[in-house]
Amino acid sequence: MKPELGVCYYPEHWPEEMWADDARQMIETGLSWVRIGEFAWSRLEPTAGDLQFDWLDRAVETLGSAGLKIVMGTPTATPPRWMQEKHPNMLAIDAQGQPRKFGSRRHYCFSHKGYVAECARIAQIMGERYGANPHVAAWQIDNEYGCHDTTLSYSDPALRAFQSWLEDQYGTIDALNSAWGNVFWSMEYDGFDQIDLPNQTVTEPNPAHVLAFRRFSSDQVVEFNKAQVDALRPLTKAPLLHNYMGRTLEFDHFKVGADLDIATWDSYPIGFLSDRLEADEAHKTAFLQQGDPDMQAFHHDLYRAVGRERWWVMEQQPGPVNWAPYNPAPLPGMVRLWSLEAVAHGAEVVSYFRWRQAPFAQEQMHAGLLTSNNKPAPGLSEARQTWGVLSQLGDVQHSKADVAILFDYASDWTWATQPQGAGFDYFRLVFSAYRALRRAGLSVDFLSADNVPENTYKVILAPGLASVDNDLEMRLSKGCALAVLGPRTGAITPDFQIPSTGRPGLSGLACEVDLVETLPPSVTRKVEGVGAAQHWVDRLSGSAPDLLTFEDGTSALKGENGFWYLAGFPDEALWDRVIKMASQQVGLALHPMPGGLRRRDTKGHTFLINYNAVPVEWNGTKINACDVAILAKHTPEEG
Ligand code: GAL
Repeated sequence: MKPELGVCYYPEHWPEEMWADDARQMIETGLSWVRIGEFAWSRLEPTAGDLQFDWLDRAVETLGSAGLKIVMGTPTATPPRWMQEKHPNMLAIDAQGQPRKFGSRRHYCFSHKGYVAECARIAQIMGERYGANPHVAAWQIDNEYGCHDTTLSYSDPALRAFQSWLEDQYGTIDALNSAWGNVFWSMEYDGFDQIDLPNQTVTEPNPAHVLAFRRFSSDQVVEFNKAQVDALRPLTKAPLLHNYMGRTLEFDHFKVGADLDIATWDSYPIGFLSDRLEADEAHKTAFLQQGDPDMQAFHHDLYRAVGRERWWVMEQQPGPVNWAPYNPAPLPGMVRLWSLEAVAHGAEVVSYFRWRQAPFAQEQMHAGLLTSNNKPAPGLSEARQTWGVLSQLGDVQHSKADVAILFDYASDWTWATQPQGAGFDYFRLVFSAYRALRRAGLSVDFLSADNVPENTYKVILAPGLASVDNDLEMRLSKGCALAVLGPRTGAITPDFQIPSTGRPGLSGLACEVDLVETLPPSVTRKVEGVGAAQHWVDRLSGSAPDLLTFEDGTSALKGENGFWYLAGFPDEALWDRVIKMASQQVGLALHPMPGGLRRRDTKGHTFLINYNAVPVEWNGTKINACDVAILAKHTPEEG
């Protein structure tokens, strides 16, 4: 596969006379893809039924005939104002009962059937018009599901849809009452039509009710997306995709991805570091203008799994963004580094957001590859340099990793529903495992719980997997030599009850969780030797051998029969220790990396990616500050 570059472009923001020159410059920069259309509904249909596609026809023709391949976006993330007159209760409602009003974007409720039908209608109109157009080479459906906290809606349409979803799930109200334990606090219902959404209760609602609502809300996103997939599929052979986000877990991306051909995501490394990562000030300062060295890679690897190996970066940060608390500029080299890093992880396309900075509206402080008055911004030359490197590099072949992480969206909903201890969450735990694997110089794959291939991995880590049944235990034992589980694994049934078999309830591992403790951030539980558990500790019993113990003599890690159970949320030192022990157990070579330097292997190359603002040496190779060294493997891997 030869990786390509692209850019996001809004022809409706610029005089038509500029389009041809823009297209020419895109080609000159080495870009071959351009995404358009995803917010253009008010220009495509200024009033209900008044279709105005001539301008988009001309834009497609201008961009396409210049040699660009087009990703056509359906504009359903930005319903125009008239839509609200037509469908007055289409707005999402927040947990406080307030409408999420018109005047920005994503102001729709996924459960509003009338709006879903409007989306399928506009997708069909666009599919009929461009589905066979040779310039339109991919379709993006909507834009960033869940962005601005829009997955959950407490509207009337959501309520009605939730009640019927519950009826489908449980069949009878008695079954629901018993599955949820509604005898507690006399919460029993007589019929599905009495069940409300789990907001505005006096104190916390039943966690089973909340988790059911989270599952329902995720399913609504899947259904919403599918309505447009169904409209477009018969009309085009081009691949369908969506652009996901960083650290967004509100819906099951694997399920949305199952209906699409390619997963793409929007990578804003510097925004993420200040906006959505737990890290100490020293780390945030050291990487202020580069982004966290593991955050992008984590999502590249996760979305490669969501896309079943086909994935892109749809929006790559090109300079300062506008939406984080502070918005520094990338250090010179970083835009190129991020782009090449994505390629190392298997991206087919890296597409920058956006071509030219907008002079108006919400994102006028967001950089583009060009300034708003059409001068080259620093990102432009780095995009061009990236293209230079890619042209030399030629084919990049993805290679399977030896280690995988099982990632489970429902575990995040479960933990968030009843955290039991403040300051720890599912993403944070999984990300800490990922970081540790990367400190050890390992390439990592991700898996969903439903898709664990047999005999593929040496080690699978499944930290914090809330529910584990016998089938999943079987898949894990067939899928790898060693599965490392815990903490809080097999802790809750999908109906939010403690499993009757006890926790974690694994048939192959004689280990039980008798008691759970959570710890404030200032306290850790030290392990004999090196490392400690933080945030969460499972007190273990059972005949499986202790592989590590806490200083108080209780078990920190138990293991037998290819399964290990970690009793706590490991700090860095404990993760490093456990990964070293696991590597010795299964015969896996580690390549410890200096801080800020990361490694990723493809079939033919080793990429060394230096997020540091200073040069680093590793195994005789010097990697410049904010740069990537690409080493050809002497004997490329087979396969
Ligand atoms: C993304 C979004 C884009 C733009 C960008 C700004 O979340 O998809 O439309 O808003 O962020 O960084």
